Amino acid sequence: MTTADVDLAKFLTQERHNVHLIGVAGSGMSGIAGLLLQLGHDVSGSDKLDTLETDRLQRLGLKFYQQHRAADAHDAELVIYSSAIKKENPILKSAQEGGKRTVRRAQALAAIMSAKRGILVAGMHGKTTTSAMAAHVLREGGLHPSHYVGAEIPILGTNAHWDARGEFFVAEGDESDGTIALFHPEHALVLNIEEEHLDFYADLAAIEKVFRQLLAQTTGKVFYCADEPNAARICRSSDRVICYGLSAEADYRATKIELRNFSSVFRVYRGQEKLGEAVLNVPGEHNIKNALGVIALATELGVPFEKIAKSLTKFQHARRRFEIKYDSPRFLLVDDYGHHPTEINATLKTAKSVGRKRVLTMFQPHRYSRTKALRKEFGRAFDQADRIVITDVYGSNESPIPGVSGQMIVDEILAHGHPGASYQPKLELMHRDVGNMLESGDLVLSLGAGNIHEQLSILAADLVIAERLKEIVGEDGDVRLYEPLSKHTTLRVGGPAQFWVEPRNEATLSELIRFCRREILPLFVIGRGSNLLVRDGGIRGVVVHPSGGDFDKIDINKNEITAGVGAKLKEIAYAARAADLGGLEWMEGIPGAVGGALRMNAGAMGAQTFEKVVRVRYLDSEGNAHDKNRDELEVHYRHFPLLEQNFAVSATFRGAPAPREQIESRLHESQEKRRTTQPIAKSAGCIFKNPDKCPAGKLVDELGLKNSSVGKARVSAVHGNFIVNDGGATATDMLELIDRIKQTARSKRGIELETEVQIVGEPI
Ligand code: EPU
Repeated sequence: MTTADVDLAKFLTQERHNVHLIGVAGSGMSGIAGLLLQLGHDVSGSDKLDTLETDRLQRLGLKFYQQHRAADAHDAELVIYSSAIKKENPILKSAQEGGKRTVRRAQALAAIMSAKRGILVAGMHGKTTTSAMAAHVLREGGLHPSHYVGAEIPILGTNAHWDARGEFFVAEGDESDGTIALFHPEHALVLNIEEEHLDFYADLAAIEKVFRQLLAQTTGKVFYCADEPNAARICRSSDRVICYGLSAEADYRATKIELRNFSSVFRVYRGQEKLGEAVLNVPGEHNIKNALGVIALATELGVPFEKIAKSLTKFQHARRRFEIKYDSPRFLLVDDYGHHPTEINATLKTAKSVGRKRVLTMFQPHRYSRTKALRKEFGRAFDQADRIVITDVYGSNESPIPGVSGQMIVDEILAHGHPGASYQPKLELMHRDVGNMLESGDLVLSLGAGNIHEQLSILAADLVIAERLKEIVGEDGDVRLYEPLSKHTTLRVGGPAQFWVEPRNEATLSELIRFCRREILPLFVIGRGSNLLVRDGGIRGVVVHPSGGDFDKIDINKNEITAGVGAKLKEIAYAARAADLGGLEWMEGIPGAVGGALRMNAGAMGAQTFEKVVRVRYLDSEGNAHDKNRDELEVHYRHFPLLEQNFAVSATFRGAPAPREQIESRLHESQEKRRTTQPIAKSAGCIFKNPDKCPAGKLVDELGLKNSSVGKARVSAVHGNFIVNDGGATATDMLELIDRIKQTARSKRGIELETEVQIVGEPI
């Protein structure tokens, strides 16, 4: 250590001063602020963000400024800055120009550590977990360690703590910027060494050099993982080494390993001596190795094995390390910070070993430089996942590199031979992509060091509701998240339904209505979607599709046909024919089901639904059933107001006995009319209601608008009142075309066209 280092250590740990931290909200910087406050300094800090951490620190005495102004650090005798801080930062600049002492975060940490017997935990993966585990075990062992770890650790209380009673200081070293070479610990625990942070290091040799320097500055023991080839090669040559791992030659090793869902049990040996049994409540083989490192360290520091084993059992994970966000017999949602191919591989291995049917992964690459440098490794890292959705890179403080995106990793995974990868450039849509893939038995894993976990949280919150909906509809029914409504409309357009629910009977529908009312969830009923234009943002809340079971039933009793709302009108026309009942042939030409036909009082061939209706059964907004005869119902052209607030269950239609040939001939006539006057392309039937003056189709035709288009939406050349989807049209295209037609009809003919098609949902 240089004299300057010694001075800094004295300044920070034996004296009291005025210190300012630039970037104090960062997870590493907030830990330093916490230590300095506990050491009795006057601490101020600046950051563009305020966080829960800065709130907590302010309660402990931090003077926090949510901006970087030189004046706020005027009284500071020392300025500590995070590596995310740019040279031009006004506080840093003014401090340096004014000749004030400025140090990097790691320098301050190394100085604080030097006041105690330092234990530095280093390596590319598992540092936070292992340093937290070490601090916890030494604390339970009565050694009163101080600690500094890179994340909030519930079991430790805070990310950093100064304990004046103890001799030891456990810290997580950050190798990403070479600053671990600043430490002079008594002991070092080296977990693994491999190519990482290639934005900073030229190659593995450069990384090795930094580690070798750290080892040369370590005065006590070097603990390293014998299963890690680089770590073993680099550490082996030091004096006083102790190795641990699963390999037979390790000084501390585990045997009889039993990996369970979220825990593992193993036997620990020191050489030939059996120390005892350990139970670890954090999952995965890699954590057994981490625990062995801690066992080796604590044992060498004199903590009895029984105490170590007891405290290991109590140890809980850091946040975002295989953190369980949702757990039910059907689904398990887990979040993990893993962002390097090795970590991803290890976490996926753990996820697979949990024993659910499939593992679905959402991944957000972290940093452009890493994505670019390790693209091949990323391509091979997802073998254990069944499906992978990848979004764009979380840049951290990096600027984008042209051509480097999530797509690049998807391409690598596909090229590597895994067919299950897809790209979603919009982070905010990730939960939808993965949510819509869900099947009972799935484990969903969010991976990445950026903000992908927020997407998993949204999914978890929606899953809570989806599971309750599933309980209501039971085994027969179906519930899906974020179901694309383009799959359920004849126009093949529309964003997703937040909750798609298929009940199979009246009792279930009634319960759904009550549930949505209680939970204040919007409820929308959709039939065959033949008269529906759903906007591209989809429908929020519960979208109920009564289908199958009782809803598809058609019963004939003398001249009356009773059909559930899910029954197709076409089927009713054919059932009537089979029973020699006439008058319902026109139903053949309507693509929808009973529910929609009632709602719209749909018509064809000059007839309208309600001309044939005898009775309607419906549920009111509280889920209670009612039967109403036709004469009690108010009905208009293409409009049945009762169903604005209520939900149809079934309807009874009246046919009239007629000769079979007559029925056949009318059916034929309807088919011919459709075949010759209407397009077969994807459409929602007639878009506009017929105005009094002139049928809408004729009007559009006369206005010369046939074949006019917006995007992939086009006015049919066959019939002017049909807009067809040429493939991939959006609701936005459709709505713009509708608007154009309306404007032209208004300006050229003074006719106000009104849409017949129901337009619902939210814009994107
Ligand atoms: N016409 C034109 N050019 C066109 C389209 C129609 O000149 O591009 C003329 C036809 O030649 C006819 C008149 O306009 O003289 C009316 O056309 P059509 O007979 O096709 O009937 P429509 O009123 O356009 C109605 C229903 C259709 C139903 C048919 C057949 C409305 C809004 N539409 O169409 O229902 O299939 O009758 O019975 O009432 C639906 O509602 O979604 C639907 C398709």
